[in-house]
Amino acid sequence: MPITYLEQEKIFKLDTAGSTYVVQVFDQGILLCPYYGAKIPDTPFDGFCFRDWFSSFSPSNASVTSGSYSSDVFPLEYSGFGVGDFRKTAVAIRNADGNNCTDFRYVSHRIYAGKPKLKDLPATYANTGDECTTLEILTRDNTTGAEATLIYTVFEKLSAMTKSVRIANTSDCAMDIEKVYSASVSLNDMDYDMYHLYGRWNAERNMSVSKLEHGHTSISSTRGSSSHYHNPFAALVRHGAGEDQGEVYGFNLVYSGNFDITADCDYYETTRVNIGINPDGFTWHLDAGEEFQTPEAVLVYTNEGLGEMSRIFHRLYMNNLIRGKYKTEKRPLLINSWEAAYFDFNTDKLVSFAERAKEVGIEMLVMDDGWFGVRNSDNCSLGDWYVNEDKLPGGLGVLIDRVNALGLKFGIWYEPEMISPDSDIYRAHPDWCLHVPNRDKSIARRQYVIDMSREDVRDNIFGQMYDVLSKYKIDYVKWDFNRNLTEAGSALLGAPHGEEIFHRFVLGTYDLMNRLTTAFPDILLENCSGGGGRFDPGMLYYSPQIWASDNTDALERIAIQFGTSMCYPASTMGAHVSMSRRTGFATKGNVAMWGTFGYELDPNRLSEKDVELVKEQVKEYHRTYDLIHYGDLYRVTCPWENSYRSSWEFVAPDKSEMLYTDVTLRYYHCMKYIVRFKGLDPEKIYRLDGTEQRYSGAFLMNAGLNLSRYPHSTGDSFTLHFYAE
Ligand code: GLA
Repeated sequence: MPITYLEQEKIFKLDTAGSTYVVQVFDQGILLCPYYGAKIPDTPFDGFCFRDWFSSFSPSNASVTSGSYSSDVFPLEYSGFGVGDFRKTAVAIRNADGNNCTDFRYVSHRIYAGKPKLKDLPATYANTGDECTTLEILTRDNTTGAEATLIYTVFEKLSAMTKSVRIANTSDCAMDIEKVYSASVSLNDMDYDMYHLYGRWNAERNMSVSKLEHGHTSISSTRGSSSHYHNPFAALVRHGAGEDQGEVYGFNLVYSGNFDITADCDYYETTRVNIGINPDGFTWHLDAGEEFQTPEAVLVYTNEGLGEMSRIFHRLYMNNLIRGKYKTEKRPLLINSWEAAYFDFNTDKLVSFAERAKEVGIEMLVMDDGWFGVRNSDNCSLGDWYVNEDKLPGGLGVLIDRVNALGLKFGIWYEPEMISPDSDIYRAHPDWCLHVPNRDKSIARRQYVIDMSREDVRDNIFGQMYDVLSKYKIDYVKWDFNRNLTEAGSALLGAPHGEEIFHRFVLGTYDLMNRLTTAFPDILLENCSGGGGRFDPGMLYYSPQIWASDNTDALERIAIQFGTSMCYPASTMGAHVSMSRRTGFATKGNVAMWGTFGYELDPNRLSEKDVELVKEQVKEYHRTYDLIHYGDLYRVTCPWENSYRSSWEFVAPDKSEMLYTDVTLRYYHCMKYIVRFKGLDPEKIYRLDGTEQRYSGAFLMNAGLNLSRYPHSTGDSFTLHFYAE
């Protein structure tokens, strides 16, 4: 059993293939997390080592009889504010008496096969009943009548687990949740670096590494979305561990709004990591009888390094997060009109793209921004989701028929959560955007944000989208989100609900996405937010791919793709070949091949030589599709370790095939460049494609190959494809 309860020790043991997580019911029902780490066998436990009470400055609860206990030093599993734990606590609820002391104690538990759905929230799911096991621990604060159900699911074979919390108000008075993290994890030391992904528009998800010190190391968002600036992912990497070895704890929040991940290192040199909704700007008013469900946090532990942590996240997300037809079905190879035409297109121009695209083997034309209202630049019409017949005479039907007649599918762009001040919808409903009384509204990209917390607004937007999507043959939707939330208030949400708006906004977005994917299950949905400003697991629940960045320069993309690969699989990473100048076509193709692959350029402006290269790339795309979409990624040379070159591999799950890609970021005079490959079967014999050279997997992984003769000027790249015989 992946989850066992040891009656005598009052210990829950949550096991995956490589990890054990322990929850202990201590004196007076206090819950502890005495251990999370490498797997411990089912032999009897003789007690874990606890830090002891140290001075009169670390209090203990009067009812606890265990002499060494202090709530300030013990590894509390879900610690409440104000009752003797001075570290960063996981939960604070202001009760009818006006104080926010919170203290949850064990009441009961149940263990069952499978995984519950989280109300209104995206979450990982079980495909079959025996794929995962769930433990629910009911806890209660007897003083206030608040209950917290701690929900743990173990994906045993995938070495991953999830945690979330459901708060219920069982009292007869209202209460306010001031903070409610999804997970709180205690570690016995602080010998870690925190790896996390920072960035900005056009440069998302770069790797940042900081050594944990006494105090707090935090990443967060207050922008209303997960954002370009930090991703809701962090890993604690034990000193000395690295890409291929050593202990790593990976954390990722399945949520697209304001989040916080904080590692708090205390004076006893232990670490607590809290993961959840950012308490900054959050309060949730809970009337008697109401419940609140947190998003879920995904936890991965491995002692095989960051690379294995990433592969565990990838497998979990591909099997148990991504849904719908395109989870398994091959996705059409697309060309997108944005960098080809921006707002300057009409039916004939788009059809000319489709004609040329058809010749080189592309399968779908995506019409990006600019097809609706009177939109000829980014200054108007968001919210007016009806076709601009000046650009597309005769309407969408004429265009789509002509594209379909060529044998291409058709896709379209929306930005459903936005509203332009210059739009018919805004003129009719000026209160449909986020705003607060008596304050100017901040503007960004000349647009406001729609009040997604309102059902009537969502009904309108969905209705407009439904009219278009149900009338025409549309195979793909790109869902964009091009600014962050300011003056976040709703005309319908007065005190005491004011600070619920950020979370209600996210729930509204999820609801609209849910309606869309339910009504149009065959549409391939791609998320986007000014590139990759909302690249998170919450979005992956609705769309199997997300545009990774507006930066399509192949060399700059590499850092973005390496960072994204920390927890998101290749099949989710929107990547296109564009006309960006710095590298040749071959390298652009080799880099974009890591992701979903496609084109974003005017195909009529390609030279004859490049047209031939595109045809080669299309062949290569089909040849390597399964390997890249379903294979295992091995990062060989990472940009945060080497500023001259980057390289990576995809290895088939049965190790029968491997594709190695190598890109030179900066020329250097190289006398010796030996690469030791990864992830192969040592026993298998591999042939290098296009040659008669044969090597054992053991040889390739240990002795390696001398690649000094391959091109290595700035922007050069090459691939090596190995097949097992
Ligand atoms: C965002 C997207 C781009 C494009 C434009 C259109 O910036 O990231 O890909 O769709 O919007 O306005």
